[in-house]
Amino acid sequence: MTPRYFVTGTDTGVGKTQVSAALLRLMVKRGHRPFAFKPFESGMASLDAPGDGLALQQAGGAWQPLETVSLFRFKAPLAPAMAAKRERRATSWRAVRSTFQSFGDGAGVVEGAGGLRVPLDSRHDVIDAIEALKLPVVVVARSALGTINHTTLTLEALAARRLRVAAVVMVSSQPTVDPSVALNKAELEARFPRVRFLGPVPFLEAALLRARAFERALSTLV
Ligand SMILES: Nc1ncnc2c1ncn2[C@@H]1O[C@H](COP(=O)(O)OP(=O)(O)OP(=O)(O)O)[C@@H](O)[C@H]1O
Ligand SMILES: [Mg+2]
Repeated sequence: MTPRYFVTGTDTGVGKTQVSAALLRLMVKRGHRPFAFKPFESGMASLDAPGDGLALQQAGGAWQPLETVSLFRFKAPLAPAMAAKRERRATSWRAVRSTFQSFGDGAGVVEGAGGLRVPLDSRHDVIDAIEALKLPVVVVARSALGTINHTTLTLEALAARRLRVAAVVMVSSQPTVDPSVALNKAELEARFPRVRFLGPVPFLEAALLRARAFERALSTLV
């Protein structure tokens, strides 16, 4: 099956871009020419350099014009709907859908913003984008304390709309380790026996080692 995923998270800063980039690199290594799509990105120092958009463009093989990777960019560190309002900028749901359609049905990755109920515009949250684009979901979850609650709520919200979950990836995106790290995955597996849990990917400062660890954890998805 052609690997195509929507990468969401239990929260912001959990490792979605790390996971999305690793999936794209694996796709390239396996002979695909994947599309990368980060339709909404906020909290940018410079609108010309969307951090996530550029990382995904590079990971996908750098063939794609940045304008089709990254559609709506905001400086304010706010949910996209709020950032657009503050910066008096219009966004277009139709453009999100038509840009996505222009990628065709090959391999690729869409990265959301924050978690499922983050507002993208006045009418759509991230979960509505998942529903509209009809992609299987990869959920990125912290491997630290709090993740049983956040992951359970996220999986319940996806199940309520019958959205397909390809995997949950547990990631240590912070150097702090707490005693829950060793227990979270087993508890979540017991709660959701039909969901595939990957990781935990350890916290690794060195970029090369980190990239390899993410690719190892995700290799069964590509
Ligand atoms: N396993 C890891 N080891 C070390 N650093 C990590 C790891 N996972 C994530 N990070 C770091 O944590 C930060 C957040 O990760 P990332 O940008 O992937 O999160 P995100 O969910 O995409 O955030 P956003 O909601 O802003 O898009 C980044 O600086 C990233 O390099
Ligand atoms: Mg990101």
